[in-house]
Amino acid sequence: MTDEGMPTIAIFYGSSTGNTQEAAEKIQQELGDFVSHVADVVDSDPEELSKYDILLLGVSTWNIGEMQEDWESFIPNMSGLNLSGKKVAFFAMGDQAGYPDNFLDAMGQLWKAVKELGNPELVGVWPTEGYEFDASEGLFDENNFVGLGLDEENQSDMHDERISAWLVKVLMDCKLIPA
Ligand SMILES: Cc1cc2nc3c(=O)[nH]c(=O)nc-3n(C[C@H](O)[C@H](O)[C@H](O)COP(=O)(O)O)c2cc1C
Repeated sequence: MTDEGMPTIAIFYGSSTGNTQEAAEKIQQELGDFVSHVADVVDSDPEELSKYDILLLGVSTWNIGEMQEDWESFIPNMSGLNLSGKKVAFFAMGDQAGYPDNFLDAMGQLWKAVKELGNPELVGVWPTEGYEFDASEGLFDENNFVGLGLDEENQSDMHDERISAWLVKVLMDCKLIPA
C-alpha cells in the first residue's frame, strides 16, 4: 500500500523481440502514477514480486507452445514466494494465425505457475471474442482467456483499444473504480 492507502501496482514482463515490452510500456502510460514499478524479468529478482499488491504480468509464447525464455528461467526461482492475498492479471502476446493450436499458451502456463505461489486472486480475465484460433492453454473457461491477448502479427491495430478496455476491467475487478 502507498502512504495514502492505495494498493501498489507493478508490471513485470518477459519479451524476446520487444512486443510484450511495448505492451508493458503502453500499459504503464495508461495507468500513469498508479504504477509503482515496471521491469523486465531478466533484470528482476523474484522477491520483488512480493513488494506490490497488484501484479500485471506480461508474457509471450514461443517455439510452438513454449514459455518465453526469460520467464522460463525466472519461474523456477519464484518457487519460495508467497503471493497469497495479492491480485494478479496477465497480458500476453501471440500469433493466432501462425500458431492457431498454441495461441497464447504461455499465459496459461504462467498463471498455473503463479497460482501455486499461495493462490493469489486472478483479475482481468478477457473474452475470446474477436480472436480466431483452434486451441489455447491460455483459456480461463470456454469464453475467456486468463488475461488480455494481444496479437502483434495480425491485430496490432487493436492493441490500444484492447489495452484500455482491459485496464478498466482490471481496475474494476480490483475495486479501484466502480463496476
Ligand atoms: C518461432 C516462433 C514461434 C512462435 N510460437 C508461438 C506459439 O506457439 N503461440 C503463439 O501464440 N505465438 C507464437 N509466436 C508468436 C510470438 O509470441 C509473437 O511474435 C510475439 O509478439 C512475440 O513477443 P515478444 O517479442 O514480446 O517475445 C511464435 C513466434 C515465433 C517467431
